Amino acid sequence: MSFEKEKEVFDKIYQGINGYSISQRGRSTMDTTDTKFLIYGEVSFAELLTIVENSGIKNQFNGLTTFCDLGSGMGKSLIGAALICPYFKRIIGVELVPTLYESSLGSVQQLAQTNKKLANKIKVINGNFLKLNFSKPALSPNVIFMHYPMHGTGVEELYLQLEEKFRKELKPGSIIISAIRKLSSPEAFPEILSPICVQCKYGNATIFFHKKV
Ligand SMILES: C[S@@+](CC[C@H](N)C(=O)[O-])C[C@H]1O[C@@H](n2cnc3c(N)ncnc32)[C@H](O)[C@@H]1O
Repeated sequence: MSFEKEKEVFDKIYQGINGYSISQRGRSTMDTTDTKFLIYGEVSFAELLTIVENSGIKNQFNGLTTFCDLGSGMGKSLIGAALICPYFKRIIGVELVPTLYESSLGSVQQLAQTNKKLANKIKVINGNFLKLNFSKPALSPNVIFMHYPMHGTGVEELYLQLEEKFRKELKPGSIIISAIRKLSSPEAFPEILSPICVQCKYGNATIFFHKKV
């Protein structure tokens, strides 16, 4: 499918909005202990389309209903998932930087002007995803998207903390789509497809596809 109309909607929503400066402005007002993992980077509509349509991952979504982007920035993956993946009933974003969170709310409102039904599927939370309990029925995602920088002090610890949460809080069969880095426990989270490469503004990013056993 070409998704030309959906791309038009997406591009109109994000026209002239710069996530990097919105993130910078928000981080400059935050406690520096909170900001070390908050480096911004984003996926475009074309990259999302490649991930969903060309990787084969769509065939694994059978019966999976709830998409969640852990660190949803200005909501590009949320709007993209709503437009590209009609089978998702709920789409959740969690973003700690308040300016990015506010920007994503604006994007959802804009989507509502074109398609209220799609916009109503999206919920964005302003908070730290490490402090949420994903086993709660109000969250309970079964498709996770995660996208953080490859390097930086403590980034390995962030992945380990997330893996621990996934072990405890995600249902078996949940899919975890991880950009840049793969999860470290192949027994708990085997890769289910070959990784693919997408081009982000900051350079090439490898996308890894895992399933919780
Ligand atoms: C590389 S960006 C990815 C943005 C979006 N997922 C995308 O792909 O377009 C990572 C995002 O995660 C957010 N983030 C990092 N750690 C977080 C945490 N503990 N809780 C909530 N958001 C976090 C950052 O502020 C940033 O917006």
